[in-house]
Amino acid sequence: MPSTSRRSSPQRRVPSERQESTSTPHLLMMWSRITRVPHPWSKRAGWESRICAKLTVIGYPPKGMRSTAAGVVRGVSNERTPMTILVTGSTGHLGRLIVAALLARGVDPQTIRAGARDLAKGADLGVPVVRLDYTDPASVAAALDGVDTVVLVSGSEVGQRVAQHQAVIEAAKDAGVSKFVYTSAPKATTSSLVLAPEHKATEELIAAAGLPAVILRNNWYTENYAADLARAAETGTLSAGTGEGRVASASRKDYAEAAAAVATEDGHLGAVYELGGDVAWTYADLAAAMTEVTGREVVFVPLSADEQLAALRAAGLDEGTAGFVVALDAGIRDGALADTDGTLRRLIGRPTTPLVEGLRALV
Ligand SMILES: NC(=O)c1ccc[n+]([C@@H]2O[C@H](COP(=O)([O-])OP(=O)(O)OC[C@H]3O[C@@H](n4cnc5c(N)ncnc54)[C@H](OP(=O)(O)O)[C@@H]3O)[C@@H](O)[C@H]2O)c1
Repeated sequence: MPSTSRRSSPQRRVPSERQESTSTPHLLMMWSRITRVPHPWSKRAGWESRICAKLTVIGYPPKGMRSTAAGVVRGVSNERTPMTILVTGSTGHLGRLIVAALLARGVDPQTIRAGARDLAKGADLGVPVVRLDYTDPASVAAALDGVDTVVLVSGSEVGQRVAQHQAVIEAAKDAGVSKFVYTSAPKATTSSLVLAPEHKATEELIAAAGLPAVILRNNWYTENYAADLARAAETGTLSAGTGEGRVASASRKDYAEAAAAVATEDGHLGAVYELGGDVAWTYADLAAAMTEVTGREVVFVPLSADEQLAALRAAGLDEGTAGFVVALDAGIRDGALADTDGTLRRLIGRPTTPLVEGLRALV
């Protein structure tokens, strides 16, 4: 069963976003949004109590609601206060699925905050959406105010991510969150994978901040192969510099369910989970799976680094991007994504999505 309640504490009893719309903290949030600075009183239950008392004198809250030190709660017992879970990057592919997985686990939608840099993009998520732009520290601080659990979905702007993640880590420390979940990369601290250094730096920042953390080192998404699949359907070939390297990919939904599990279950604090699919496949296996999905024979064409670089240049990729792709494939060839130990399967309580099934969903 998901754990969606936590011990009562005047400082940490925070109403959901909808509740905030009629609460004293809402006034403080408004102040924060206007000034873009977290209100200095927002965490001080003493001030909140006094403000609540004054509002009660003037007839607030309206009938059917009651005032507490943390604000106004609609006619419900406040003995067990719902915890609030913030998901960053909630408008992205993975973030959306994490929100959906939280809802599927029975988490009250009003206790979920979807962090989005563009509020309109999150309008269909079915949960309250808060503005959160990693490059705007005030928006990060306001979004985290009163949050118990943060799921930091790693950013998508490669090269900018450490500073972006740092903004969330610092705000989480200030907010005193009780759980901080981060989606990292396989063996982030020791991997030679070209993408690993930003994840390594982020994990180090999380540790240095002393956050109660759960690190989810996600292997590849099967969805990464959407473009390769489309090309294979056209050409009958899959070419890459990965040699006989293996990839333990899983579908984004699998990783999202794992994130929802660790965010809502008791425990997991301090864990570093290496998450991947049940099967580590080679690119020859991938070609065979593409054959099955497209109904056309797909052949794997292994390329040397030089051959791959030439092919990518010929396809119009700029030097930096081509070099990046070659380095990624070299990492795969050297085994950076090859390990799988069943942790993802155990966390989600079912087998991970098989490669063929994951690819079929892309057609
Ligand atoms: N394991 C893998 O195979 C793999 C593959 C690709 C990526 N990743 C990592 O996993 C993350 C999630 O993957 P995904 O497929 O969900 O990526 P995605 O669809 O590109 O989503 C990225 C999310 O980050 C948000 N974002 C980007 N810059 C932001 C900023 N400055 N402030 C606030 N939000 C910002 C985006 O907001 P908008 O909707 O406004 O753009 C979006 O919600 C990626 O960001 C990347 O770090 C892993």
